[in-house]
Amino acid sequence: EITAPVIAIDGPSASGKGTVAERVAAALGYHYLDSGSLYRLTALAAVRAGVALDDEVGVAELAAGLPASFVGGRILLSDDDVTDAIRTEEISAGASKVAALPTVRAALLARQRAYRRFPGLVADGRDMASVVFPDAAAKVFLTASAEARAERRYKQLIAKGMPANMHALLQDLQERDARDAQRSVAPLKQCDDAVLVDTTPLGIDEAVAAVMAIVKRQSL
Ligand code: CDP
Ligand code: CDP
Repeated sequence: EITAPVIAIDGPSASGKGTVAERVAAALGYHYLDSGSLYRLTALAAVRAGVALDDEVGVAELAAGLPASFVGGRILLSDDDVTDAIRTEEISAGASKVAALPTVRAALLARQRAYRRFPGLVADGRDMASVVFPDAAAKVFLTASAEARAERRYKQLIAKGMPANMHALLQDLQERDARDAQRSVAPLKQCDDAVLVDTTPLGIDEAVAAVMAIVKRQSL
């Protein structure tokens, strides 16, 4: 059976996964999966339904039936545009809490694999290479220092005219990194067969070029 090729891009928060994955997908004409948005949508759905984030059965039920759609760069939950609502610090932390629940991860697995379509898929997250697409044609682990990543988030917030505190951002990011790396299922870590790209000193164009070079080596 011939399956569409996958480029898996994993890494911690604000390493540049989303930006780089979208650009690589556009360059190759591939589909794009932002797997983190599914965990964010699950957390938002739980908060809105009054389901506790540690209620594994309740949260997994919501994850399995998420009425999510992705339309022209916007993210909808039923008819509600939640593109911005899923990016708050509260929902970021909530996403990493529900992401630690094995039943929730299992409930989202088939939905993620359904994005694999021709001519190919670029998928970003934490476990794209390890669990969701272990047969990916190219595996990239994007990282950057915690300080560089907190500064990127800071600049993103300031650019949107939103309040930002560098110290709080760094602390939130390190807490989320720790929770994601220490959980027992699908922890954040570099796979043996993934290529490490440290974007600390790289601009976006340079990070995209570094990933494209890895992709080209696989003749994709
Ligand atoms: O998806 P992830 O959380 O890994 O990161 P992102 O949302 O793609 O990137 C976070 C921010 O860092 C965005 O504003 C990017 O434009 C910026 N960025 C950067 O300044 N330099 C890079 N090499 C990569 C991303
Ligand atoms: O953009 P950023 O890297 O900050 O976050 P994200 O990729 O949207 O993911 C939000 C949270 O969802 C992460 O902190 C992880 O806990 C979880 N996640 C996961 O467990 N597995 C994935 N494949 C993607 C996200």
